[in-house]
Amino acid sequence: MKKRWSRVTLAAGALAFSATAFAAPPSAEMISFACAGCHGTNGSSAGLTMPSLASQSKTAIVDAMKKFKSGERPSTVMGRLAKGYSDADFDAMAGFFSKQKFHPTAQTVDAAKVKKGAELQEANCSRCHLDDGKEGKDDTPVMASQWLTYLQMQMGLYESGKRKMPEKMAEKVKPLSKEDLEALLHFYASVK
Ligand code: HEC
Ligand code: HEC
Repeated sequence: MKKRWSRVTLAAGALAFSATAFAAPPSAEMISFACAGCHGTNGSSAGLTMPSLASQSKTAIVDAMKKFKSGERPSTVMGRLAKGYSDADFDAMAGFFSKQKFHPTAQTVDAAKVKKGAELQEANCSRCHLDDGKEGKDDTPVMASQWLTYLQMQMGLYESGKRKMPEKMAEKVKPLSKEDLEALLHFYASVK
């Protein structure tokens, strides 16, 4: 009996200590450090298969994280990662990255495809992918300056049906040829 009491006292003491030590929740920046190895400390992508998050809309980032977590959006790594976080964490990370400045990438693109892609974007995609894909509004991701490899991977997922396109986007994408889509992606990758 005596032993049990001392254990309770100890536990209560530990609880009081931890409540003080962790009273301040981690900042949005601290939570976002976990993303920096791939998405850059300021949201500028560290590699070809990873998108830049800087200047994306908060809604688009939260939306993507929820879809990764539920498995609705296919992924190589994000599904597993997203499962470790709560909605409140998503909100904090999205807030942090949405406030970072847009970073242009320097990549090799095909000039003829860029020219053709610019016209196709204006006619088919500009209603949602605003300002040549530089502005992300609501649930629409920033397209400008994303790595061509990343964009090709995502377009491949849409075409195979593994990633579901928004209906109104599908209406515009479906009639286009493979060459048209490739030109569009070269265009987005080229935008600075
Ligand atoms: C190990 C590398 C890695 C880490 C760490 C990582 N990501 Fe990702 N992220 C990716 C890759 C790769 C993709 C493309 C989807 C996929 O294949 O998983 C992606 C895609 C995304 C997208 C979709 C963006 C768009 O334009 O559609 C968001 C949002 C995102 N990550 C947020 C985060 C956040 C927030 C964290 C920190 C918790 C994080 N990521 C950590 C590699 C990573
Ligand atoms: C009706 C609005 C709308 C139109 C029109 C539209 N899109 Fe989108 N696009 C979106 C939204 C919203 C998303 C994010 C979808 C999601 O979460 O799955 C997206 C995502 C994408 C992505 C994936 C980017 C990423 O980082 O994950 C690509 C690539 C893309 N669109 C290409 C196009 C192309 C090319 C066109 C024109 C032929 C087009 N879209 C027309 C709304 C639109």
